[in-house]
Amino acid sequence: MPYAVIMAGGRGERFWPRSRVKNPKQFLKLIGEKTMLQLTVERVEGLVGIDNTYIVTGSEFTGIICEQIPLLPRENIIIEPFGRDTAAAIGLAALHLGRKNPGEVMMVLPADHYIGNTPRFQDILKSAAAAAVKSDAIVTLGITPHSPETGYGYIHRGDLFDTFYGNQACRVISFLEKPDYDTAVKFLSGGNYLWNSGMFVWRISLIRKMIEKYIPQLDSGLKKLEAGLETGRYQEILAEAYSELPLISVDYGILERADNVLVMTGDFGWDDVGTWTALERHADKDENGNVLQGQGVLLDSSDVYVLSLDKPVALIGVENLIVVNEADSLLICHKSRVQEIKKVVGALRDKG
Ligand code: GDD
Ligand code: MG
Repeated sequence: MPYAVIMAGGRGERFWPRSRVKNPKQFLKLIGEKTMLQLTVERVEGLVGIDNTYIVTGSEFTGIICEQIPLLPRENIIIEPFGRDTAAAIGLAALHLGRKNPGEVMMVLPADHYIGNTPRFQDILKSAAAAAVKSDAIVTLGITPHSPETGYGYIHRGDLFDTFYGNQACRVISFLEKPDYDTAVKFLSGGNYLWNSGMFVWRISLIRKMIEKYIPQLDSGLKKLEAGLETGRYQEILAEAYSELPLISVDYGILERADNVLVMTGDFGWDDVGTWTALERHADKDENGNVLQGQGVLLDSSDVYVLSLDKPVALIGVENLIVVNEADSLLICHKSRVQEIKKVVGALRDKG
């Protein structure tokens, strides 16, 4: 049975002030009554079972994970002393899972995405696992793009490799992470490009080989940790070894360089819900296009998104605003500028 590894160490800065350093996006109830992490675990648990579901995350989040996913075996939380981006997180997970069964398939999933159709999602993952076994390649899940987003990776799809449970796996010609706007426009009109969903399926032994080949500094750090496991010194050396790992995402570090990549189309209603405006797509709107979550009064206002759980907010004669009212902070942002909320987090951090 494949392993599912959920990456839950991101900072979710674009969801300030709801998302905080201690409580980032994946642990919030952004859509419905469950947190993004709980929804992610439910989706994969249905496919691989809770015992084969792992979460890789920073040490500061273990408490919140145990609270939110009480049935997850404690040893299925793979702890990073601090975040070193996704290549390191994936490498660490591969190291631990590879000790059990290096030939097994590992599915890597972000903790904070919206998936509309769970049965279809599970069907595609099952097919991707079969493709990973047959090809011993990296299998990506691509999303049909509808706008020239610059925050995603782009997958250039080639010819058919094979079909698994009725789903096609195609060869990948090239992968480009976060292109500039003009390139993204070109890709979009090119037709044979897909957004990278950020989910990957591969044999554990393959990703270790890819790390060895393309990110040797990460490989040597992992080998030090492996030696630590053998000698019982793992905990002692973890923080120091981890601090030496290169700070790079799997997309830049491996996907852009590898030549044995396949893609399957993830037609399961995907949204990475990266910003407040993305979240709004999944909420109910009134006749003026407004979303009001919590308490408030909206007069002569349109296309606003208001989140205020503990006190009423009143808006009069405004449009295209995001208003998020927390106990200790308030965000008012034009909808066209939501990407810049990250800057606020940086500025507040600098102010201490
Ligand atoms: N454990 C751990 N440690 N998880 C991490 C770390 C880390 O250091 N850094 C990020 N993550 C988690 C995040 O919580 C998220 O679930 C996932 O890894 C992806 O990281 P992001 O930081 O959100 O990446 P991105 O959105 O910029 O880009 C990725 O996702 C896009 C789709 O949403 C890339 O894979 C793109 O190519 C892709 O299009
Ligand atoms: Mg993301």
